[in-house]
Amino acid sequence: MSETLYPVPADIAAAAYIDDAKYQEMYKASITNPDGFWGEHGKRIDWIKPFTKVKNTSYDPHNVSIKWFEDGTLNVSANCIDRHLETRGDKPAIIWEGDDPSEHKVITYRELYAEVNKFANVLHAMGVKKGDRVTLYLPMIPEAAYAMLACARLGAIHSIVFGGFSPDSLAQRISGCDSKVIVTADEGLRGGRKVPLKANVDKALETLDVDKVVVVRRTGGDVSMTEGRDVWYHEEAERVSDHCEPVEVNAEDPLFILYTSGSTGQPKGVLHTSGGYLVYASMTHQYIFDCKDDDIYWCTADVGWVTGHSYIVYGPLANGATTLMFEGIPSYPSPSRFWDVVDKHKVSIFYTAPTAIRALMGAGVEHVEKTDRSSLRILGSVGEPINPEAWQWFYDHVGNKRCPIVDTWWQTETGGILITPLPGATALKPGSATRPFFGVQPALVDAEGQILEGATEGNLVILDSWPGQMRTVYGDHERFVQTYFSTYKGMYFSGDGCRRDEDGYYWITGRVDDVINVSGHRMGTAEVESALVAHPKVSEAAVVGYPHDLKGQGIYVYVTLMDGEEPSEDLAKELRGWVRQEIGPIASPDLIQFAPGLPKTRSGKIMRRILRKIAEDSFDNLGDTSTLADPAVVEDLIENRQNRA
Ligand code: WT7
Repeated sequence: MSETLYPVPADIAAAAYIDDAKYQEMYKASITNPDGFWGEHGKRIDWIKPFTKVKNTSYDPHNVSIKWFEDGTLNVSANCIDRHLETRGDKPAIIWEGDDPSEHKVITYRELYAEVNKFANVLHAMGVKKGDRVTLYLPMIPEAAYAMLACARLGAIHSIVFGGFSPDSLAQRISGCDSKVIVTADEGLRGGRKVPLKANVDKALETLDVDKVVVVRRTGGDVSMTEGRDVWYHEEAERVSDHCEPVEVNAEDPLFILYTSGSTGQPKGVLHTSGGYLVYASMTHQYIFDCKDDDIYWCTADVGWVTGHSYIVYGPLANGATTLMFEGIPSYPSPSRFWDVVDKHKVSIFYTAPTAIRALMGAGVEHVEKTDRSSLRILGSVGEPINPEAWQWFYDHVGNKRCPIVDTWWQTETGGILITPLPGATALKPGSATRPFFGVQPALVDAEGQILEGATEGNLVILDSWPGQMRTVYGDHERFVQTYFSTYKGMYFSGDGCRRDEDGYYWITGRVDDVINVSGHRMGTAEVESALVAHPKVSEAAVVGYPHDLKGQGIYVYVTLMDGEEPSEDLAKELRGWVRQEIGPIASPDLIQFAPGLPKTRSGKIMRRILRKIAEDSFDNLGDTSTLADPAVVEDLIENRQNRA
């Protein structure tokens, strides 16, 4: 690990909201007096009825309960739009950059107001009211933001499903939260290729009953419309006014559900509520990106992931910032695209993922160097540990050694960033997420849950609540308690391993559970396994991650076949296609090894530790194999391993 220290540039510190002295002072206040600290910062958003209570949270596994600002009321869309109209009506709220470089659109706060109000009225006409769940399955077009904010305006709960998920995954997520209204588009457009969103919705709905499907026209491609169920957004929008009164909701009323993978079972519906979430998303966005009124801020995520929720839509818009929304991919039409967009729109803050950086690094530095990028001021990274080489390339070539990189650690569950540098306060070390944000108390524990002090390595837990924390698993509070608060009693367990160095800096080492991180996308190995064993030729499957140059982790699959089935290249291809169809392209296995048997204990438990080692091509030291039921299985697995150096 690189331990080179990059001190805060003096000009950045002088102009930033927070320098190191301020960080120390505010961090201390946030921990010693959370009520006082958050009571003050809670006022950064507009409340209809101001809160009088601040923090009311318990991590006691018998009674996990998380409430912030619990007697306050507000409307999230009014905070993201209405309150800016007087001073920022003509300021761009969203700059939309299409997949094709010839297409872009600027939406001012005043225009955003009209669009969101219309969208809310259309949804209202479809029967959507406070507390209802609405599933959004949309490409990266402004209507995705309009639809989110329209739900928030009505007090309805959106559940976004990433456009790369299959009809089956979509169906599971629609029925999981019992949505009666779906919003989609005819087709998406990414890298010049069409994504059949409406056709996928039709497939998902073959076995499900919903009231309405609202279809946004994006490509104009042919889609079938089911009479009485499906409506075109642009036709409905003509019938409604562009004013819709924002609905007053309680701070603890739900804002959205977002499904995410865990180490066991099917994806969980992570539930975030309104007041604390918005305070936390907006405050982290302002301070971590040091975002000022004249910045052009671009986060390259998709709104289908939490990063898009907190750092494309809610955080920036609550702050009255200009947020850029990009429909396309980094490599289309050329590997200069990101930097062309930076120059075109004079982007000053640029937030992306290590997997994109590694891919662009591979394409060659000439694609960066031919662009100007002098508008850039702050860079950011999220989604997985950033390897020091990628960090260095990002810093040297993209930021021309001028721009601090904020390596932000957080999770769908945390709602916002928890561990990160602040550009004006924190000296950087490539590969380290550095220090906790205000109000965040990280700790490292050993397997027994003993807190470890000083420079050490362990499992990353958070000792107390922060306002952006998820409140429950939708419809299954017991699963929430089990997943996050029962491994180490009285602590929130992140599922990540982590090292802390002599300076108190945190270095995330990756997941310690059965979750893998493929190109910054979270995947439960159990989900991929259950998709595989649903194939008629598959008897058993075990899935593990292995180091992958571009993706961070790749998906390594061990499969045993039903009696009479023979391994073949064709079958491997078939299984790849099967998983893509069951879950989506993001779950496509990278390597498939057919095995006559899997290593098991005498009680029948698959020994994943061994499978991980073999997949990593580091099987010299397999650890204790004395509990194996049949040691010969391992010989065959090593012999036929797929990932050879
Ligand atoms: C997992 C959460 C939070 C938005 C994107 C992913 C990994 C995330 C970092 C980082 C090292 C990171 C962790 C975490 N992760 N950011 N800066 N350094 N690891 O959200 O899908 O909920 O995944 O992503 O392993 O647990 P997510």
